[in-house]
Amino acid sequence: MRLTLRRPDDWHLHLRDGAALASVVRHTAWQFRRAIVMPNLKPPVTTTAAAAAYRERIRAALPAGSRFEPLMTLYLTDGTSPDEVKRARASGFVHAVKYYPAGATTNSDAGVQDLLKLHAVLATLEEIDLPLLVHGEVTDPAVDVFDREKVFIERVLASLVRRYPRLRLVFEHATTREAVDFVAAAGALVAATVTPQHLLLNRNALFRGGIRPHNYCLPVLKRERHREAVLAAATGGSAKFFLGTDSAPHAQSAKENDCGCAGVYSAHAAIELYAEAFDSVGKLDALEGFASVHGADFYRLPRNTDSITLIKEPWTPPGSYPFGDEVIVPFRANEPIAWRLAPEGG
Ligand code: NCD
Ligand code: ZN
Repeated sequence: MRLTLRRPDDWHLHLRDGAALASVVRHTAWQFRRAIVMPNLKPPVTTTAAAAAYRERIRAALPAGSRFEPLMTLYLTDGTSPDEVKRARASGFVHAVKYYPAGATTNSDAGVQDLLKLHAVLATLEEIDLPLLVHGEVTDPAVDVFDREKVFIERVLASLVRRYPRLRLVFEHATTREAVDFVAAAGALVAATVTPQHLLLNRNALFRGGIRPHNYCLPVLKRERHREAVLAAATGGSAKFFLGTDSAPHAQSAKENDCGCAGVYSAHAAIELYAEAFDSVGKLDALEGFASVHGADFYRLPRNTDSITLIKEPWTPPGSYPFGDEVIVPFRANEPIAWRLAPEGG
């Protein structure tokens, strides 16, 4: 069976920098025309000037002839000024500002202490119509790790959306029923991205026969009833839900460690994994909207005009890929994936 789609884009991606960037960007560029590139480098990308320099490094690392286009983001901090986000908007290459709660995840030390206190910047984002991308988890250590998304919606997101009704907002990597219900019920300016792992796995995958560090990401995998709700939302045809892999490479040594990093690497097989998830509920007809249309429309960018072809034919990713001087273990390493991407023109 073959499935031809308008070429997709990845609306949530970590590319890292330096030799690691050069190792991973080819995987994304082979499938996607564009990707929203997350700014959580060390130090984080907090200015338009830093985003311009990072964009050039990404472009320089692309395979020859690639038409891949990185869409840049700024990392929101307690010190981000309204002028900086105006400069970002005027640049034409910064497409959003990313909110990380301080300490929530990889390289988020510079994140925001209290989002609702950043009134001047939030009002400016609303006025200049630059989207805010939200890592929707509280960091309060008293809150159970599996409840942090739900509690963020109650404590922060509900007020944010009420106070800034014209703010364009993406709830990144939605993982719970509460998140997809909130987004579905909110106005048209509130959308969400969904990762392949949260469509395909529930939290049992963290402990299958022993601890599985390569399935650990943030937000952490949830119970089966949440996976089912997120899968129903992604495959339901609503323009509010679109593809964002959150592919987040970490060296094998940083994952298989007594304090392993959060992040699943899926860029090597992203669209194939989504095809598998959509196929599992008989919704392949909804894949193109989710992967290639809703995100471009939300970001007010043109839809891609060329296409890709998927073939229902199993293949098995290798146990690892090069990652700078180290290696990364990809999602589904040494285990078959039901769909594969046809070579260009294939
Ligand atoms: C991301 C990373 O490694 O940069 N990790 C993850 O588990 N998703 C950070 C993030 O998006 O939370
Ligand atoms: Zn991410």
